[in-house]
Amino acid sequence: MLFRQLFDQDTSTYTYVLAHEASREAVIIDPVLEQLDRDATLIDELDLKLVAALDTHVHADHVTALGALKRRFGAQTVMSERGGAVCADRLVKQGDRIVFGGHELEVRETPGHTNGCLTYVCREAGMAFTGDAILIRSSGRTDFQQGSSRSLYSSVREQIFSLPDATLLYPGHDYKGRTVTTVAEEKRLNPRLGLQKSVEDFERTMSELRLPHPRKMDVAVPANLACGLDRQEPPAPPSLDASWAPIVSTPAGGPELMADWLVEHASEVVVRDVREPNVAGRQG
Ligand code: FE2
Repeated sequence: MLFRQLFDQDTSTYTYVLAHEASREAVIIDPVLEQLDRDATLIDELDLKLVAALDTHVHADHVTALGALKRRFGAQTVMSERGGAVCADRLVKQGDRIVFGGHELEVRETPGHTNGCLTYVCREAGMAFTGDAILIRSSGRTDFQQGSSRSLYSSVREQIFSLPDATLLYPGHDYKGRTVTTVAEEKRLNPRLGLQKSVEDFERTMSELRLPHPRKMDVAVPANLACGLDRQEPPAPPSLDASWAPIVSTPAGGPELMADWLVEHASEVVVRDVREPNVAGRQG
């Protein structure tokens, strides 16, 4: 099986391409709209026939390229029937199969990060694509989009840890440069969801995280419910007295000062760092 793991640096999102070598039929998992050209070029270069574009869930941190890939390649768009994204061509549930050439992915429902989270399992290759259910030594957050710590704990125990120990787990994100883990590794080493942790431990850990919302959330969630094709205009930036500096608007509509201006005027301003200390604060 042909396999590629791709990365979006801005949101630390992994995208995966899997293909059947003989037929060239391929699927893509969790494509990012900003990386459409990169992914389309790869598909063309490798002479693949993209038969399906899959999301593991309705993302809050980036806009999906599902709709754009359907337009470009005629790929069928696939999402969970429980996620509310009725834009998808195929709404899947537990036990469904997604076939590409001589290979297939099994759909497992793993709610908890969102209620429509899916894990796609390729049994013959010993691989599972877990989205934001379990991350390497971490987990997806559970504090919005119908998230539930209790539900995520059950999903991981019943649907992911029930896979063979050697199964390779490919997450939706990693914020520390790691690329892959295994069921055995996470059972032993995951500080939130490892076998030594009770559901009460997990609920307590998650309730104490107090993460800021992803910066693109207000744009990404409504856009993703429309498969990325109905990208909402970002809200107008708050009105600011910007006479002292060239303030620009971020893609999410917030005010932003460019780094080079700040370096040049460092002696004239006071910089106050209000970022969260925990790297997990970037979780999407
Ligand atoms: Fe997510």
